[in-house]
Amino acid sequence: MALCGKVALITGGAQGIGRAVAEALLMSDCRVSLVDLNRNVGEESKTKLDAEFGEEKSLFIQCDVTDSGALQDAFKRTVERFGRLDVVINNAGINNEKNWEKTIQVNLTSVIKGTYLGLDYMSKEHGKEGGVIINVSSMAAFLHSPHQPVYTATKHGVIGFSRALADAAELGNYGVRINVLCPAFVDTPLLQTVSQEDNMGKFVKFKDDFKQRMDKFGVLKPSLIAEGMMRIITDESLNGAVMKITSSKGIHFHNYEPLSA
Ligand SMILES: NC(=O)c1ccc[n+]([C@@H]2O[C@H](COP(=O)([O-])OP(=O)(O)OC[C@H]3O[C@@H](n4cnc5c(N)ncnc54)[C@H](O)[C@@H]3O)[C@@H](O)[C@H]2O)c1
Repeated sequence: MALCGKVALITGGAQGIGRAVAEALLMSDCRVSLVDLNRNVGEESKTKLDAEFGEEKSLFIQCDVTDSGALQDAFKRTVERFGRLDVVINNAGINNEKNWEKTIQVNLTSVIKGTYLGLDYMSKEHGKEGGVIINVSSMAAFLHSPHQPVYTATKHGVIGFSRALADAAELGNYGVRINVLCPAFVDTPLLQTVSQEDNMGKFVKFKDDFKQRMDKFGVLKPSLIAEGMMRIITDESLNGAVMKITSSKGIHFHNYEPLSA
């Protein structure tokens, strides 16, 4: 996909991985809508991006992705402002084992809603021009940990949903590619939450074990995740792909066995 003039919507785009991806897209002359719960950080990021790329290139929309109406409205406002939609990145995520129902709502239910909204605005089924959706999972979907059982479940769910829908997109000729990105530990504010009782609940007692895993597996820079994301966005051959990004292997793909009876 040639990126110049294309429009991307990124949930959780105010900081961390989402923000790094927004910068990479703006550098490729895309226009970007940052959809995020956190108004202060979102507006701060927008001001910084305006200084570098110009005010007209991005939009910040304060939105809780778990509020269906607000998420719908964020898609509508993005298309009203920029006239089209080509890339949807369902990236907003939380780490909360104490309020685990919320974790399911943000990390899985809202990813499903964001994916269906992306199809409404991009699928050839609806007379649109096609595009690409990337759902952010995690290496937690492969290396399950004792600290985050519900987070792990949501990230498994994101992969299952996205791969099934990628097949539907191909069968139904939607013209929309649906892929998944699974980073290992990344240096973002989310990683600070692993030692907080408010987030981890009873699993906080395993925090030293969690930190040992971070030392063992290493902590990646958000810019490397943005590099992987740009590959998924631009490589037209990828649909139903699961990209993993780790310290030891860098950017690579998970290999699935072909279906057999
Ligand atoms: N940091 C890591 O180690 C890591 C590793 C693997 C996967 N991930 C995944 O990457 C994604 C981005 O995480 P990050 O590390 O950049 O975290 P982060 O906390 O730095 O950023 C997440 C953003 O999502 C926003 N957000 C949270 N709940 C929201 C809601 N209800 N509605 C709208 N926005 C909301 C936050 O305000 C924040 O700006 C998440 O899905 C996370 O699970 C992170």
